[in-house]
Amino acid sequence: MAKKAKKKSKKVVKAKAASRKPAKKVAKKATKPAAKKAVKKASAAKSAAPKMSNKPYGKDGKALDGVKILDFTHVQSGPTCTQLLAWFGADVIKVERPGVGDITRGQLVDVKGADSLYFTMLNHNKRSITIDSKHPQGKRVLDELIKHCDVLVENFAPGALDRMGLTWEYIHKMNPRMIVASVKGFGPGPYEDCKVYENVAQCTGGSASTTGFRDGPPLVTGAQIGDSGTGLHLALGIVSALYQRNRTGRGQKVLCAMQDGVLNLCRVKLRDQQRLKAGPLREFSQFGQNIPFGEATPRAGNDSGGGQPGWILKCKGWENDPNAYIYFITQAPVWEPICDLIGEPGWKTDPEYATPPARLPKLMAIFARIEEWTKTMTKLEVMEACNAHDIPVGPILSMKEIAEDQSLRATGTVVEVDHPTRGKYLTVGNPIKMSDSISEVTRSPLLGEHTDEILSSVLKFKASEIAEIKNSGALTPPPKKEKAA
Ligand code: COA
Repeated sequence: MAKKAKKKSKKVVKAKAASRKPAKKVAKKATKPAAKKAVKKASAAKSAAPKMSNKPYGKDGKALDGVKILDFTHVQSGPTCTQLLAWFGADVIKVERPGVGDITRGQLVDVKGADSLYFTMLNHNKRSITIDSKHPQGKRVLDELIKHCDVLVENFAPGALDRMGLTWEYIHKMNPRMIVASVKGFGPGPYEDCKVYENVAQCTGGSASTTGFRDGPPLVTGAQIGDSGTGLHLALGIVSALYQRNRTGRGQKVLCAMQDGVLNLCRVKLRDQQRLKAGPLREFSQFGQNIPFGEATPRAGNDSGGGQPGWILKCKGWENDPNAYIYFITQAPVWEPICDLIGEPGWKTDPEYATPPARLPKLMAIFARIEEWTKTMTKLEVMEACNAHDIPVGPILSMKEIAEDQSLRATGTVVEVDHPTRGKYLTVGNPIKMSDSISEVTRSPLLGEHTDEILSSVLKFKASEIAEIKNSGALTPPPKKEKAA
């Protein structure tokens, strides 16, 4: 990548020089200096842009083709980030500890002897090399990877990368174009040295205190906003840093703290915290129940949290099916069709119900009436009836229903993947669809599957060097200690 970029920049310089000639001709005719400048600028921009591809959309490679990632991630947050980059075409080389690998390979195992779904579903489209990063010969391989790659992504505990000797200064000296991207639990401050997992981030980022019911304990959510959410944030930081590097020629550090990532996703709750000063939060159902607000944004149960009140209502079969429910939103512009559907046409004009402010104090009673109607139909029948009138509703889909949903299969959001040791399994494909960079999901690598290929074809070590590195024990687990007799 580094060499290619150098070549490219030469081309750009030549192209710029060539573009100056016609610009001069035009400039002669132009009278004002500002006009001269504008012509020059437009012409330079035109010449700097690559020639437009004439290949069909989706047939001219991928968005991140040519980007090389040294993937030093483990568990969930980091791997989600590098998996996304791999789906966009980056060559992701996952470095794993010899013999063990990413700890998730052996966590929540469902098929004996096979990598767990935890691992396979977070590490598609990557290559795996095993390296003991603390072994001198392992360090030698890592150094070559640092020189070769554009981005190092890691989510070790605070200080672990430095303890391996891979400080920012060390990396940057060896490869000034290298982007070093990290997930940590907390940003700089009193908690910066703490190890953090998903639910710690959900609790410290404001999610748990605002999730659940007011009269119950704080709740964590099933969506992995701390891990996968931060991985997403980090991916955006990385592509932005790659973009900036095109201009500056140098790498930079990218840090995403899980607490910050969760808080970013809880932005509306910090909004509500500040609105409390102006009085009760009228869209919360507790307002209609005359329950006073405290000092902090309360847990909102299933209140919508936006300007359009909503709640989860029972549908036909709720007695036996834990997911026979629907999220119902009483969006103001569709209030009249809602009244007609539920058999309360009088509410359209009754001043007690006709306006959103009039409805706020009695939201729970209104939803109870709507529920009488939703209980007469299945959640999908309610959805069909409501969508015919543009009334937004959300049937509560179980993971079973999602796994079987053919429309999600058709878009590649749910994908079936074959794996040599576990067989076929389902995974979530790339949720970001691009018309000129089509994602294909390929299986996760076996531990160290690409070690030889990376040493020889990527890092260009000679056969004798590879033998030396291998014999040193830097790529294999330490021999098991014999038990005393
Ligand atoms: N070769 C040799 N040593 C290796 C290695 C390799 N290839 N890969 C990892 N190690 C070592 C590390 O250097 C570290 O050693 P050290 O403590 O002596 O410096 C050790 O393995 C453990 O790494 P660590 O990151 O501390 O793992 P952990 O299992 O103790 O902690 C987390 C796991 C997730 C709690 C921690 O990594 C963390 O807080 N990460 C940042 C936040 C985060 O991403 N959390 C969400 C995870 S989904």
